[in-house]
Amino acid sequence: MLGTDHQSYREGGKKALVTGASGFIGSHLVDHLLSKGWRVIGVDRRSPTSDPIARLNLMDAVGNPLFHFLHADIAEPSLRGFLDVGVVFHLAAATGVRSSWDANFTGYMHDNIAATHHLVQECERAGVPRLVLASSSSVYGTAALPSKEDGQVRPMSPYGVSKLAAEQLALAYAARGAGSTSTVALRFFTVYGPRQRPDMAIHRMLNAVHTGKPMRLYGDGRQRRNFTFVDDVIEAIVQSALTQQAGQAVNIAGPASVTMRTVLDIVEEVTGKPVPIFADTARCGDPEATEADSSLAREVLGYSPCIGLADGIGRQWQWTLDTHKAPAIGSIA
Ligand SMILES: NC(=O)c1ccc[n+]([C@@H]2O[C@H](COP(=O)([O-])OP(=O)(O)OC[C@H]3O[C@@H](n4cnc5c(N)ncnc54)[C@H](O)[C@@H]3O)[C@@H](O)[C@H]2O)c1
Repeated sequence: MLGTDHQSYREGGKKALVTGASGFIGSHLVDHLLSKGWRVIGVDRRSPTSDPIARLNLMDAVGNPLFHFLHADIAEPSLRGFLDVGVVFHLAAATGVRSSWDANFTGYMHDNIAATHHLVQECERAGVPRLVLASSSSVYGTAALPSKEDGQVRPMSPYGVSKLAAEQLALAYAARGAGSTSTVALRFFTVYGPRQRPDMAIHRMLNAVHTGKPMRLYGDGRQRRNFTFVDDVIEAIVQSALTQQAGQAVNIAGPASVTMRTVLDIVEEVTGKPVPIFADTARCGDPEATEADSSLAREVLGYSPCIGLADGIGRQWQWTLDTHKAPAIGSIA
């Protein structure tokens, strides 16, 4: 149950801290909150003054008097002094499934587990009333489909393990009782849209169409993903901050689970050009399919994704064309 601090924040103290603000989803959240009149502190290790992707993503936010950017690693103590906010949106993470194996896991342990642990304690110490944390469909791995929050979790990659650890850590702290930060963990299913990370499939497809350079397609194209447009995700994130619901994980997914082949067909339809492909073997850690049961999100958040795949890919294609005209293109391709 949420306390009165949360109540007062809901009624007017619209001030938030967003971790991972320079990233794909974090920067969309920052823009959305600013457009609604929130004061926003954006924290990230990638600064818009030195990192081209951060600069592109935060182009609209930087210069807005309601926005303050804090260049920091969230595992460091420097966050103290910035937590007089009504809600912390925790989106910072080491991302990507394929790159999470072996020696790379050290970075995932730092960013996803140690940093989250540190942040959760800092939130509690500062009396932050509400924490919304980004988790992932990767926690389900090989579990039976459709994935349901109270069903099995069987992560099949180090990334998935780290995201499960992060959400469970935050929920464990939230359940400690009086003085804890009320927390909700959102399990996002493959998010796409403008600013999508360069390692992600739809970004790579659209980039291949634009440049003519083949994209690497892992597996036979029959892998299924429950793609979710970024605006739908932002709706769910903001709604999670405002609802009374807490202490649990909630799936956030798009309208349907579709194969990579179907996505390639839609990309070809939207762009009017074939996607040049370089076929490669499936990679360890990538599940055959993801598919969400979205009934809990519907029930507790009133969540109902409204952007279909063709519409969403059309918007991302327009963004691809626009950014390829911008000077930072070399680094997003
Ligand atoms: N994009 C998806 O499809 C997807 C799916 C499931 C879950 N998620 C989750 O959503 C969140 C956002 O994902 P995204 O795709 O926007 O990723 P992103 O890589 O674009 O953004 C993450 C940001 O976090 C920052 N960061 C990482 N560790 C940090 C640290 N220790 N201190 C400060 N900054 C740090 C990075 O610099 C980056 O800007 C992540 O938690 C991710 O696990 C994303």
